Amino acid sequence: MNNVRPESLKRIVSEEQAKKFVEESVKELKEQIGNNKVLLALSGGVDSSVTAALLIKAIGKNLVCVHVNHGLLRKDESKQVIKTFQDELGATLIYVDAVDRFLDKLAGVADPETKRKIIGKEFIDVFAEVARKQDDIKFLAQGTIYPDILESHGIKAHHNVGGLPEDLHFELVEPVKFLYKDEVRLVGLALGLKPEMVYRQPFPGPGLGVRCPGAITKDRLELVRESDAILREEFAKCGLASKVWQYFTIVPDYRSTGINNNQRTYEYFVVIRAVNSVDATSATVEEIPYDTLFKIRDRILNEVKGINRVLVDITPKPTGTIEWE
Ligand code: XMP
Repeated sequence: MNNVRPESLKRIVSEEQAKKFVEESVKELKEQIGNNKVLLALSGGVDSSVTAALLIKAIGKNLVCVHVNHGLLRKDESKQVIKTFQDELGATLIYVDAVDRFLDKLAGVADPETKRKIIGKEFIDVFAEVARKQDDIKFLAQGTIYPDILESHGIKAHHNVGGLPEDLHFELVEPVKFLYKDEVRLVGLALGLKPEMVYRQPFPGPGLGVRCPGAITKDRLELVRESDAILREEFAKCGLASKVWQYFTIVPDYRSTGINNNQRTYEYFVVIRAVNSVDATSATVEEIPYDTLFKIRDRILNEVKGINRVLVDITPKPTGTIEWE
């Protein structure tokens, strides 16, 4: 398969060019797919969302989106995907609640790479099960983008839907595979996706699982999810959300002593991480103003039950990776 960006594809830097790309892609997709059905794993990330929106425009209901909730998504993320794609764009969407299934498989597993592999394998298993139940699916769409092709190696095990079991033969549809991220975003806007969705911060495939260092438990995962939601709300309020590359919280599997209402506590702590980067290969630390940090700290300590301490990670990459696992 040809994996080199064609010279005829000019850099997309304007709304007009993005609209032209949409028009041409829709035409090509209609020709390629005809009246057949296409399956797509829709995580709600920028790439799969733009791929979905393009395909909805091209083939409508013949696109079958599968959204797997593996329990490692951010607060309200699945709801948002259903609202945007099923309710607003009228997509055919299969929602799979696989929360317990993933958490069972991950129970007691503390090694980061083993956790990633379990999440990746389980995802493929769940997706393959859904795929086998569908009739007449000929194509599999993927939100591969050009950097994925250029950097198909890495320090950590990444996961995507590549590597489906052999009994599932699909032809691949990858409508944005020659686009860079900034171009994918412009195409998303041209398709009418909301800026909040198109300019979302990067989110790892294994989700909050890598922000819950050590063996994942339902309780600690909830602490990550709730503290992350507070951080995102406060960053949106003070304008940092649109400025900072990536920001999130981590809740390691370690407790410390604290005091509350004159009672000794022994609880987990939240780490805040906010970094800037161009391509994620290196990163610098965002200097969050102390008043903002204090506001976030107060909200986390008041609202997230089971947390008695808040820390800030000031490590650049290198030496730390962006994620903790
Ligand atoms: P690190 O932690 O290696 O992360 O500095 C670099 C960027 O990649 C994201 N990341 C992942 N994305 N699957 C993904 O799809 C993964 O397993 C994964 N691990 C890290 C991370 O959030 C950061 O943006």
